[in-house]
Amino acid sequence: MRTQVAIIGAGPAGLLLSQLLDAAGVESVIVETRSREYVEARIRAGILEQSTVDLLRSCGLGERLDTEGDVHRGIHLQWPRERHHLDFSELIGRTVTVYGQTEVTKDLGRARAAAGQEIVYEVSGTAVHDPETERPSVTYTGPDGRPGRIEADVVVGCDGSFGPARAAVPDPQTWERVYPYSWLGILADVAPSTDELIYAWHPDGFALHSMRSATVSRLYLQVPNGTDVATWSDDRIWTALATRLGHGQDGWTLNPGPITEKSVLPMRSFVQQPMRHGRLFLAGDAAHIVPPTGAKGLNLAVADVALLAPALASLLRDKDPAPAEAYSDTALRRVWRCTHFSWWMTTMLHTSEDPFDAQLQLSQLRWLATSEAGATGLAENYAGLPIGF
Ligand code: FAD
Ligand code: DHB
Repeated sequence: MRTQVAIIGAGPAGLLLSQLLDAAGVESVIVETRSREYVEARIRAGILEQSTVDLLRSCGLGERLDTEGDVHRGIHLQWPRERHHLDFSELIGRTVTVYGQTEVTKDLGRARAAAGQEIVYEVSGTAVHDPETERPSVTYTGPDGRPGRIEADVVVGCDGSFGPARAAVPDPQTWERVYPYSWLGILADVAPSTDELIYAWHPDGFALHSMRSATVSRLYLQVPNGTDVATWSDDRIWTALATRLGHGQDGWTLNPGPITEKSVLPMRSFVQQPMRHGRLFLAGDAAHIVPPTGAKGLNLAVADVALLAPALASLLRDKDPAPAEAYSDTALRRVWRCTHFSWWMTTMLHTSEDPFDAQLQLSQLRWLATSEAGATGLAENYAGLPIGF
């Protein structure tokens, strides 16, 4: 089959890229290893930056987001006996929206299906060929076991942290930081016990109270690397959350409820540079991973494709290669900003064995809670810098 842009991966980056390319009059075909149902049910991110929301609205994906998304003015930062609200709206005039990645991919999946987008699900053995030429291609084995080939003008790797596209860039520079802790994440059928997210520092370890809707809560606990989820009973999880989130403090209570999903997530930072090799481009988790503490991963994937789609339209439609040539450098500026912010939030909030670290963390948290300059810096990064930063 022949198309203009062959996209590997139907996660948020790949689906949104095809939506934006279509709007710019550029054709694409997507290949994806999983089924559509699997991709749409995968529980991941929950927080959308203002510019992500604006972009989704601008490409016709705002309807359900505007009715079901929950706009938050800021976050609560907490440590034992103290809880402080940082109001992004007041500090910088920007907000964030709680709307699950599952919902973003469902909206995108429906929009792409309605537009007749070609997506080959359940492929295996995806490989990139000839990215140095003007006729790169992608080969795969289809769900029926037959070999498939997409000949294209451009290939985009939107294949996440374990996909093959990144390895097709020769001699890249890479940076990695593996953190000495993981998150135990749960989804529970219970109304959130808080209006906005609580990020809590505690000597037992970090805890985060997030949510998906008025009836579904999402919570996380810092746990040691290698933790077996089977060692955390529902009771043990709710007890640890209650302690770390300050149940009983100033009359605040944490409401437990039935846990419907439980998993352990390792945490790392990773950046690969450049994000382009000839006619192969990388976007989203294919090029960079951030630890989840700053809620940046999905937003960064969206920012990449918001930059890449017009660059590819210039290249393929207007025969102007300049924006595509600048893509990697431009995207990496934001990638490194978010990499720093995610590292900073992570190292400020997760406890270690070192009592000196704990004092520095508490000092930093007190400064954020009492200094408008400190709080504004956090707000700018958390609510998100404008696309094209
Ligand atoms: P992915 O979503 O990983 O999509 C890649 C796709 O490529 C997948 O569908 C995969 O199946 C497919 N693929 C892989 N290999 C191949 C192949 N060989 N051939 C074809 N297809 C292939 N981010 C935030 O912004 N805010 C948050 O609050 C947040 N919370 C998170 C919480 C958790 C628990 C986790 C795990 C992540 C969180 N993130 C968050 C990160 C966010 O989910 C990711 O950054 C985001 O999914 C990246 O999108 P992507 O499209 O680049 O990659
Ligand atoms: C969620 C995940 C995050 O990493 C974060 O910082 C905030 C919220 C979530 O899944 O809701």
